[in-house]
Amino acid sequence: MRVLLTGATGFIGQHLHRALLAEGHDVVACSRQHPGLPCRAFIPCDFAQDLKSDDWLPRLNDVDAVINAVGIIRETGLQRFQSLHTDAPKALFKACAECNISRVIQISALGADEQAETNYHLSKREADDFLAKQPLDWLILRPSLVYGPGSTSSELFAGLAALPLTPLIGDGQQPVQPIHIDDLVKAVLTALTSKSPSRQRIDCVGPRALSFQYWLNGWRKWLGKATAPSMRVPFSLAQSGARVCAPFSRLPVDAESLQMLQRGNAAPVEPFTRAFGFTPQCFEHSIEQRPASPAERQQAGLFFLWQLLRLSLAFMWIWTGLTSAFWYPVSDSYQMLSAVGLSGVALPIALYAAALLDTLLGLALLLNYRLRLVLLTQVAMMLGYSLILSFCLPEFWLHPFGPISKNLPLIVASLMLYVREGDAP
Ligand SMILES: NC(=O)c1ccc[n+]([C@@H]2O[C@H](COP(=O)([O-])OP(=O)(O)OC[C@H]3O[C@@H](n4cnc5c(N)ncnc54)[C@H](OP(=O)(O)O)[C@@H]3O)[C@@H](O)[C@H]2O)c1
Repeated sequence: MRVLLTGATGFIGQHLHRALLAEGHDVVACSRQHPGLPCRAFIPCDFAQDLKSDDWLPRLNDVDAVINAVGIIRETGLQRFQSLHTDAPKALFKACAECNISRVIQISALGADEQAETNYHLSKREADDFLAKQPLDWLILRPSLVYGPGSTSSELFAGLAALPLTPLIGDGQQPVQPIHIDDLVKAVLTALTSKSPSRQRIDCVGPRALSFQYWLNGWRKWLGKATAPSMRVPFSLAQSGARVCAPFSRLPVDAESLQMLQRGNAAPVEPFTRAFGFTPQCFEHSIEQRPASPAERQQAGLFFLWQLLRLSLAFMWIWTGLTSAFWYPVSDSYQMLSAVGLSGVALPIALYAAALLDTLLGLALLLNYRLRLVLLTQVAMMLGYSLILSFCLPEFWLHPFGPISKNLPLIVASLMLYVREGDAP
């Protein structure tokens, strides 16, 4: 079969892509960037912009089936639920109906149902409802939390589990019913065959519901750690915290996702088992089968430290800028600038321009704005400051507070963030 796969670069999309190739299907990958795996064709697309069926019609030439695996958990910039979850999928489904595509599989989400409350769920449901009305052979899969290698939410859960205190929202008894990525992929592959049910919405869940606390303790077990004491955070406090942190955070969690967790994320597994002819594996089994590798344990331990590193560097740049501009005696600053060869009007210009630049770069780091460029600029500036001071004020190397020597670990820390940012989702 020739399958057009959207979201081919994502966690679910990549697993689907590999499995489709292994089954001998031709994959037409449709994503913003090339997925890096072999494909019959790569068609660039942007769900934030491709909102008309005419955008999709030419992409469906000779395609037998379509799988839509595009989605976001948090809105940012131009990445809005309305376009990504609703308008672009609707345009795609309309085009599929016009082209008589033989099978359309929509990866929706558990909770995108009549009880949906959050914008995430409502936007998914609107596209699902639209697809359900098309004269097509469609199948809507509504996965619960999907876990497995490469999942950003799994990285978050492992990171939470690696903390010395296990954080719980309220009493931590919210039900979750995670499904392993291999089981979801198996279901999608079955859905492409004639044996599959069609024109149905099927919840894709693990074999039984677990409490959120049990789920996090499971991740601890996966990391080879004993159960840790828990720390209960009231739901309202967690939500307010998530709201306040939203502009600075890139974690796959926000006030809405906490609301979804609080609602619970569970459903009967029987419809899934009936539809696809197998029962998904249980979480306990999968963590026993494949315990965390040393690299995964290290990644979990560092998960929140990476965030803290970025925030602390941002604080340092902003604080340095504000201190130079407002609090440090101007005469002392001018004295240092004179030592590096400046005089007259160049003194205030250099002082306040450098302070402004430091503050702006710190704010960019704080707000995750063009991080790689910002980090490289900061490294260049720290190297520049260190070289100038080494030539003009070499006595600073002997200062007990290390105004030059401290730049060395800061440069390395910035480079580490730069490298990590290259792999960031
Ligand atoms: N993972 C779960 O636990 C889970 C649970 C329930 C439902 N789902 C649903 O399953 C789907 C896939 O989830 P996932 O975990 O694979 O998410 P993911 O890893 O974040 O992947 C999302 C995919 O969407 C693509 N995308 C984002 N913005 C786009 C845009 N403007 N234009 C085109 N493509 C865009 C991404 O491409 P780029 O690489 O270009 O960003 C990526 O390929 C989503 O609809 C999600 O809501 C996931």
